[in-house]
Amino acid sequence: DKAGHKHFMAKEIAEQPTVIAEAIRHYLPVGEDAVHLPGDGIDFTKIDRLTLVACGTAFYACLTAKYWFEKLARIPVEVDIASEFRYREPPIPGRTAALFVSQSGETADTLAALRYCKDKADQILSVVNVPESSIARESDLALPIHAGVEIGVASTKAFTCQLSVLLMLALKAATDRGEIGEEELQAHVSALRGLPNVMSAALEQNEAIRQASLKLSEARDVLFLGRGLMFPLALEGALKLKEISYIHAEAYASGELKHGPIALIDNNMPVVVLAPRDDLFDKSVSNMQEVMARKGKVMLVSDAEGLAEAGDEVWQAIRMPQVHDSLSPILYALPAQMLAYHTAVAKGTDVDQPRNLAKSVTVE
Ligand code: M6R
Repeated sequence: DKAGHKHFMAKEIAEQPTVIAEAIRHYLPVGEDAVHLPGDGIDFTKIDRLTLVACGTAFYACLTAKYWFEKLARIPVEVDIASEFRYREPPIPGRTAALFVSQSGETADTLAALRYCKDKADQILSVVNVPESSIARESDLALPIHAGVEIGVASTKAFTCQLSVLLMLALKAATDRGEIGEEELQAHVSALRGLPNVMSAALEQNEAIRQASLKLSEARDVLFLGRGLMFPLALEGALKLKEISYIHAEAYASGELKHGPIALIDNNMPVVVLAPRDDLFDKSVSNMQEVMARKGKVMLVSDAEGLAEAGDEVWQAIRMPQVHDSLSPILYALPAQMLAYHTAVAKGTDVDQPRNLAKSVTVE
């Protein structure tokens, strides 16, 4: 049932405020100020490092989580693609927790990577949408994301729910390790509780994003740029666009622009810049200017303050509401998804069942 939407993907994008609220309620029950994990949880004072492994969109959720775990909990984090990890057979030092992220919980490479870690890692954790899945069953601790059934092949609500659960896990790690003060924790908790409303406000940009997508749908190639927490999201935005619109899209960390991709910039190259007005914003603006100086068409996704500072030379501007810095990847996932969705609709592709793709990759 598409609940009045044209595609499952549109429905799943729209229901994110509701499912995120659900995910947050499970880990931050009303009236409680600390993160609660199911079962025996995990004691992060006994862990010195984390290894995060996944495929596709779930891998980008892991890349994002690296920033959170390292910044908030000061735990060194390694992130890997499951198909690389499993055959590289990396050494797993003592006091390592291995964490696997998978919507389906059945992805063959992710499951094989988990099995490789079984007698090596101190603890096997998973972040899954299907609690009865193989990956959940074979973990010491499975953390459900509460996204509900996801039908669209392009993952949307599972991604933002994965991010929310990973951020809450990072907050738990930060608390266990004494790396975060009460005040900072409370700031995160209240920002998380307010997130569903902020997401609803972002969804109101749907029509503006649809308009912007009409122009994007004429492009042959699109570049996505982001820094810090926006870098993994740039990768996710490019993947989403490729998957359903079949437009070639690539993502780079903004600071890498000069190291190669700037050679691609001309007046046919739309460049989507994901840049909330945070500590790294000024750096992103200078990268944007480098693009515009070469006639690249910048589509800037930022908040009101960021858009005002960037000036009116940008090709397209997409306005997001203000959000706590740590939550920006969860919020900015929405315009990335909407952009891909409307571009695909404009091109007339099969949004829910894109060619050559399967929802769950249970064979290598
Ligand atoms: O079920 P999983 O989360 O393990 O799936 C991983 C990837 O196959 C999946 O995220 C894929 O990249 C999606 N089509 C992305 O939209």
